[in-house]
Amino acid sequence: MISGDVICLQGDLGAGKTTFVQGLAHGWGSQDMVSSPTFILVNIYRRADGAQLFHFDTYRLESIAEAEELDLDSMLAQGALIIEWPEHLGDLLPRERLWIHFEHVDEGRRRIRFRAANGRPAQLLERIPRVTAGAA
Ligand SMILES: Nc1ncnc2c1ncn2[C@@H]1O[C@H](COP(=O)(O)OP(=O)(O)OP(=O)(O)O)[C@@H](O)[C@H]1O
Ligand SMILES: [Mg+2]
Repeated sequence: MISGDVICLQGDLGAGKTTFVQGLAHGWGSQDMVSSPTFILVNIYRRADGAQLFHFDTYRLESIAEAEELDLDSMLAQGALIIEWPEHLGDLLPRERLWIHFEHVDEGRRRIRFRAANGRPAQLLERIPRVTAGAA
């Protein structure tokens, strides 16, 4: 994951979005612990080389005006964005994105579907298995 990358995680409460971010951030090399940014909207994770990862949870976002204040563009310039509840950002969501959909199958199982247009999102999708395995 590099600056400007956007990964959207859609799924019901408890579908497994934050858990997926834990694997992703770990594989990416985060030095910080991943937690759910439900109340503070965004967590920032850092890697030894200075790269940053912005982890959003917009579940509690009150309005699009509040979303505009987040200034996604300046964050995109500084790192990759991973967004839980991306549908709450409406038109503010960057068009070029990897979309991941989570479904609760039963107690111990989740169905995860990936959708990416050609270009950078497709490249990112190809790298996902390696990132989550800690090899990227
Ligand atoms: N792939 C998975 N397989 C089995 N259990 C999982 C999986 N992913 C997450 N879980 C379990 O589901 C529960 C909820 O996970 P998690 O917090 O990641 O969901 P979430 O989608 O981020 O929820 P929220 O919408 O509240 O942020 C946790 O107990 C977690 O251990
Ligand atoms: Mg979560």
